[in-house]
Amino acid sequence: MAAEQTFIMIKPDGVQRGLIGEVISRFEKKGFYLKAMKLQNVEKSFAEQHYADLSSKPFFGGLVEYIVSGPVVAMVWEGKSVVATGRKIIGATNPLASEPGTIRGDFAVDIGRNVIHGSDSVENARKEIALWFPEGLAEWSSSQHCWVY
Ligand code: TYD
Repeated sequence: MAAEQTFIMIKPDGVQRGLIGEVISRFEKKGFYLKAMKLQNVEKSFAEQHYADLSSKPFFGGLVEYIVSGPVVAMVWEGKSVVATGRKIIGATNPLASEPGTIRGDFAVDIGRNVIHGSDSVENARKEIALWFPEGLAEWSSSQHCWVY
């Protein structure tokens, strides 16, 4: 069975505040594998597609404006239960409710500027990875360790 994968995005505030390395470090140290990563600006229509499930919410317009306000880092991470564990590493949606030790708990105070996105289910991870990485992922197996002694 293929290893579980999740889609993680560092939002514009996380990129601008220099938190890219911090986020990557936390996922690496937990034991997950980085499978794909790119820094990019996204179009409004693309952000609307990513957050399509939230299109009826009153905060949808502001959320889309925020996501297109600067470059984001899109990543795919792989490992055992990475979807649920990734959500734990990230913390609750509202940073005021997220525990210290989580990314949002440590680095954010505003629900509208909460640094990072992570897929909330294996099914949504699959959809989000297909949306953000239509070119596919580089071949790299987690069993491939020939340069680690
Ligand atoms: P959601 O998918 O509910 O949360 P999560 O990112 O934890 O999976 O919401 C998506 C984003 O929308 C959330 O990260 C921040 C923003 N948002 C608001 O700005 N206001 C709100 O009241 C909610 C619920 C979310």
